[in-house]
Amino acid sequence: MSKKPTEVKDDEVETTGHVWDGIEEYNNPLPRWWLWTLYATIIWAIGYTIAYPAWPMINGATPGVLGWSSRGDVAAEIVAVDEANAEIESRLAAADLTAISDDTELNTYAINAGAAIFQTWCAQCHGSGAAGAKGYPNLLDDDWLWGGDIQSIHYTISHGVRNEDDEDARFSEMPAFGDDFLEPEQIDQVVHYVLKLSGQESDAVKAGAGAEVFAENCISCHAEDGKGDRDQGAPNLTDAIWLYGGDEETIRETVTLARYGVMPEWATRLSESDINAVATYIHQLGGGE
Ligand code: HEC
Ligand code: HEC
Repeated sequence: MSKKPTEVKDDEVETTGHVWDGIEEYNNPLPRWWLWTLYATIIWAIGYTIAYPAWPMINGATPGVLGWSSRGDVAAEIVAVDEANAEIESRLAAADLTAISDDTELNTYAINAGAAIFQTWCAQCHGSGAAGAKGYPNLLDDDWLWGGDIQSIHYTISHGVRNEDDEDARFSEMPAFGDDFLEPEQIDQVVHYVLKLSGQESDAVKAGAGAEVFAENCISCHAEDGKGDRDQGAPNLTDAIWLYGGDEETIRETVTLARYGVMPEWATRLSESDINAVATYIHQLGGGE
């Protein structure tokens, strides 16, 4: 049974006339302003999904008639930054390496850009602070394998070390002396000689015999005094700075098996101005010559 609206008394709320088991439904329509707001948001949403990327598809979303995309935004920002830097970038690319530090503006730009390039491309091997790790040289100190003036640093970065992709890469190869070159006893002796050279505790008799083994097998690269040779990337063995480690076990492993540290070449991946920037950055880290 339904009650007619006409039967509603003044002090009662109007009902819709629907009754279920004696329960009536009040007629409280949504306020007008609320409804219009709802309609407006629906219209806005439809317009938005037409104008902008919205509906997810298998590969991406519907593009939207305005053609806007967040990637496009980023690309436009990059273009704007590149344009703003174009002048100084071309100056950096053409700069004489040794003159960069005399030009304050160029030098500051190179160091900042170089630091960003370093974090992107170099930190995974040389460490985010450039302090290196086992097998990856510390670039903060003045102990250079291949040379610490800016041209040498630039060359190392451009061509890399012992990589097969660049025929101008820096190259040298320490033989694995355990492969029939030396007897285990001779290796033991020369290891003690290296311990002695680097000022560590060593067996005097073994080190004495090791000096001869060293003179016959090692000085062509590490030099008579053991201080190394930058033309061959042969480390100085007399200081406390080690690329692989200076304890007896590690030295024995290095001499027996040899190492073959490889660094990629960057001339194919980075622009000339990028390489100049990162070389400038490394040169000023502390050990530059
Ligand atoms: C895949 C690892 C790796 C990456 C990435 C790498 N390097 Fe190296 N880098 C090495 C190794 C290994 C050596 C040492 C090679 C050797 O034993 O002579 C080296 C050596 C160097 C040297 C010579 C140090 C010296 O004492 O003479 C410089 C300079 C250098 N790297 C700079 C860079 C820069 C700049 C980048 C980034 C653009 C970079 N490296 C990226 C592995 C890497
Ligand atoms: C053909 C050149 C060459 C000869 C010969 C050579 N070395 Fe080396 N040595 C190197 C190079 C280059 C490295 C750098 C490591 C690498 O190959 O990645 C090195 C590294 C080392 C290291 C590691 C140093 C560190 O900082 O961790 C030790 C130790 C060493 N050599 C000892 C010897 C001894 C001892 C001999 C002689 C028995 C010898 N080397 C002969 C070129 C040579």
